[in-house]
Amino acid sequence: MGAGREMEVSLDAVRDKNMMQLKKLNTAIFPVRYNDKYYADALSSGDFSKLAYFSDICVGAIACRLEKVEGGTVRAYIMTLGVLAPYRGLGIGTKLLSHVLDLCAKQNISEIYLHVQTNNDDAIAFYKKYGFEITETIQNYYVNITPPDCYVLTKAISGTAPKK
Ligand SMILES: CC(C)(COP(=O)(O)OP(=O)(O)OC[C@H]1O[C@@H](n2cnc3c(N)ncnc32)[C@H](O)[C@@H]1OP(=O)(O)O)[C@@H](O)C(=O)NCCC(=O)NCCS
Repeated sequence: MGAGREMEVSLDAVRDKNMMQLKKLNTAIFPVRYNDKYYADALSSGDFSKLAYFSDICVGAIACRLEKVEGGTVRAYIMTLGVLAPYRGLGIGTKLLSHVLDLCAKQNISEIYLHVQTNNDDAIAFYKKYGFEITETIQNYYVNITPPDCYVLTKAISGTAPKK
């Protein structure tokens, strides 16, 4: 592909005002329905959740949740990363993921992870390209979709900013 990479793709914050865009995208892209907690977590993650605009059309989004782990550290969980099918292969998924990986490095977040359905070869190839590894397989993770199993994909963030 590549042609789209010269096109203007911009990222915008997820806010109350544009939350409907994220809901519409999720309905179009994912077989799973997301609850109010998902949207509240996306809002409270601040810059870790973004909408992607391609020539002013909202075509993709990343939504993350920040989780406190033992020892007071924080890890990032990618709840969803999706691009509308006609706009895939143009670098938009990469732009959304790179934005979040950069933020993790800047904010001393050393780990990022996500769940992906075991048959989602495109997404698994995408994440592996950016250094994620399969760290676990969970049987029957999903309730209403087949296969119900998922992989946990994890990436250790290098280049974490030194502590002040
Ligand atoms: C995964 C997803 C977000 C990737 O978005 P995208 O905008 O198409 O990704 P990019 O254009 O940035 O692709 C970057 C690289 O990932 C790899 N990649 C992307 N799609 C791929 C596919 N269908 N098959 C194999 N590799 C693929 C390629 O190596 C590609 O680089 P290249 O174009 O230089 O070859 C998109 O396919 C998607 O929305 N899928 C449906 C939702 C989903 O399953 N999300 C993941 C679970 S949260």
